[in-house]
Amino acid sequence: MQQTLSVRHLLGIKEITKEDIQLILDTADNFKEVINRPIKKVPSLRDITVANIFFENSTRTRLSFELAEKRLSADVLNFSSSSSSVKKGETLLDTVNNILAMKVDMVVIRHQSVGVPWFLARNITANIINAGDGTHEHPTQALLDAYSIKEKFGEVAGKKVAIIGDILHSRVALSNIFCLQKLGAEVMVCGPKTLLPKYIAGLGVKVSSDVKEALQWCDVANVLRIQLERQQMKYIPSLREYHLYFGITKEMLDSLDKEITIMHPGPINRGVEMTSDVADSHHSIILNQVENGVAVRMAVLYLLAQKV
Ligand code: CP
Repeated sequence: MQQTLSVRHLLGIKEITKEDIQLILDTADNFKEVINRPIKKVPSLRDITVANIFFENSTRTRLSFELAEKRLSADVLNFSSSSSSVKKGETLLDTVNNILAMKVDMVVIRHQSVGVPWFLARNITANIINAGDGTHEHPTQALLDAYSIKEKFGEVAGKKVAIIGDILHSRVALSNIFCLQKLGAEVMVCGPKTLLPKYIAGLGVKVSSDVKEALQWCDVANVLRIQLERQQMKYIPSLREYHLYFGITKEMLDSLDKEITIMHPGPINRGVEMTSDVADSHHSIILNQVENGVAVRMAVLYLLAQKV
């Protein structure tokens, strides 16, 4: 079995192999056991310093990385652009180089612009982990989603996963498509035609604008938020109308002739992409995803620290 990753950065799922993904998921199994012990901390990243550099808002990813780093005994720096000298005109590269001058080994970066993690990987020596670059990739979200599917079903291969919602603006959708396909799952994307990118069928996924068809087809529905903050024009008439045609309700799930599993990367807009009784139902593994995120990020940090 492969013991180390084939890469020294985690930039996107597109760039890593099936074996890399399996190594991360297997390593996460060990860390999931660790974080459920009374003593949750291990010394694996002692003497490693990690900077979490977030230029966009985050709750789950940021806290999850910070907790994963602390559970591994790393020294942790947290940077938020809203309270930094970026506001005084400093460039991204100057900001990052100043942080690195403090002897930082690894950088976790979230940025609104596509490609920033790749730009940093070309220009600085630290290991880079992409925590979400614009509408492009969010690799650790896809890994924790795959881990959660594997945990629920025993394997990802052969499972049918429908990704439902704002596919056009979603980095979660693209990373999930790459990750699930590498692991042998079938993928459907479903949403209003205006929120389905034209290139998407070329990725080998099924495409639908009929949410009932998607739910009837899938074993797992990964439901995404409408990302109004990234929309430069009106792609849907209103959130109310979106909910009417694409919102997942308990009645829809009850009308299926099988049980399906509901996932969501968060943050949820209750009453838009799904109703509260779906989000909080026995179908939902949304909080399991959050729990698994810590173990998966511990695995990524641990494996990349071997490349420092
Ligand atoms: N899933 C996710 O990326 O959530 P945050 O934006 O809260 O980090």
